[in-house]
Formats: sequence, C-alpha cells, structure tokens
Amino acid sequence: MKTIKLVILSVFAMTMVTSCNQEGNYEKVSYFTMDANGELVRPTDFRSWVYVGTPLTPNDMNNGKAAFPEFHNVYIDPMSYTHYKKTGTWREGTILIKELVSVGGKIAASGNGYFMGDFIGLEATIKSKEHFPNEPGNWAYFSFTNPKSGTLANTGKAFATAQCNSCHDSSAGDDFVFTQHYPVLRAAKNVGMDVVPENTSKR
Ligand code: HEC
Repeated sequence: MKTIKLVILSVFAMTMVTSCNQEGNYEKVSYFTMDANGELVRPTDFRSWVYVGTPLTPNDMNNGKAAFPEFHNVYIDPMSYTHYKKTGTWREGTILIKELVSVGGKIAASGNGYFMGDFIGLEATIKSKEHFPNEPGNWAYFSFTNPKSGTLANTGKAFATAQCNSCHDSSAGDDFVFTQHYPVLRAAKNVGMDVVPENTSKR
C-alpha cells in the first residue's frame, strides 16, 4: 500500500514539475492573494523562495537618521525568478518581500561590523496589472509592520504612489526593482531557464 501511495505521489510531483517548466504554464502560478477589500494577504513561506540580497543603510553612516536603518533581507518568488532568467523582465504577478532585521550588534569574533539582531518588520511589492492598472509600472507597495505591538498584520493596504512607488520608479536599476543592490538577480538576468547561475564559474 505504502509503495502504491509513493508511486502515485511521485508521478503527481513529476507532473507538477513538468507542467510548471513547460513554457507559459509557470506564468500562472501565483504567490500572493488579495482579500475582498483589495488588501494583500501577508505572504507566508517566503524564506524558502529565492534570496536575492541584504542591503543595509545604518544610522551611523547617515547622521544617525537613516530612513531605513535596518537590514533588508530580500526574497523573490521562485516562478518570477525563473521568468527573469528566461526573459530578463518581471512577469505579471511578481512578488518581492523585504524582511526587516534590526542591527543587533557591532562586534563579533571576526571583527567590528554590523550584525543582524531581531526581525522587526515585513514589506512587499507586487507587479499586478490585474489589481493595480493605474500604478506606474503596475507595481504596488505594502507593509505589514506594526511598530507598536511588534507583531505583523494579516493584510496590508497599498501605499499611495508618492510614498513608495515614485522613488522606485526614478532610482531602481531594473524597472522598479533595485537590482543594482542584488547580485543574485544580476547574475540571473536573461541567462535562460535551464542555466543555474551559481553553478557556473562566473557565479
Ligand atoms: C527614497 C527612496 C525609496 C522610497 C521612498 C521607498 N523605497 Fe523601497 N527601496 C529603496 C531602495 C534603495 C531599495 C533597495 C536597497 C534597500 O533595501 O535599502 C528598496 C527596496 C525595497 C523592496 C525590495 C524590492 C525592490 O524593489 O528592490 C521593497 C519590497 C520595498 N523597497 C518596499 C518599499 C515600501 C513599502 C515603501 C513605502 C513605504 C518604499 N519601499 C519606499 C528605496 C525606496
């Protein structure tokens, strides 16, 4: 019985992988949900997506007043990563997560520096013509952070264009995404779906 179950499971898994890899089909896989009020439901499982980088603008280097003084761990959903490898563009339905982590300490056994402390917030951006036809580039920006309680909200409302979208529009390296700060995405752009950049000699 166990063997039959296993065989059925493996065939199912293989079919899923094949159908996702087939041209076009993977485009439909979505990694986010909008609720009935048009708010983004807080994404889950994103630490098993593709990690693209960790920018940091510490207070010490910004007159004690950095706009975003914490570490930003950035992740992209796996299907949009695949699409970016194939086309070098962001698909309809792309989602990137920015997980905020405080600067926890500045001294380690290896020397002085900036070391990660605690999780303090969560933000996201999605590209969706379906839900945001009027936003520049169809990109919308969200936060789930509640600085007072320290917990995360279950849904997030899109910010006004001027609050987030405009800066991304004018300064981001590739469309609205700050690829100039994400070596993983720069290495992936247009390499083709079957290439695994980290396995090549150039990485
Ligand atoms: C003044 C410019 C500026 C504004 C305003 C801004 N951002 Fe960003 N954002 C950046 C920069 C620069 C990065 C990459 C480096 C970093 O994280 O510090 C970034 C990265 C991000 C990322 C990771 C994906 C990506 O596009 O690179 C998300 C998600 C994000 N910001 C959300 C927001 C949200 C939500 C707001 C509004 C509350 C916002 N941003 C406002 C400059 C800005």
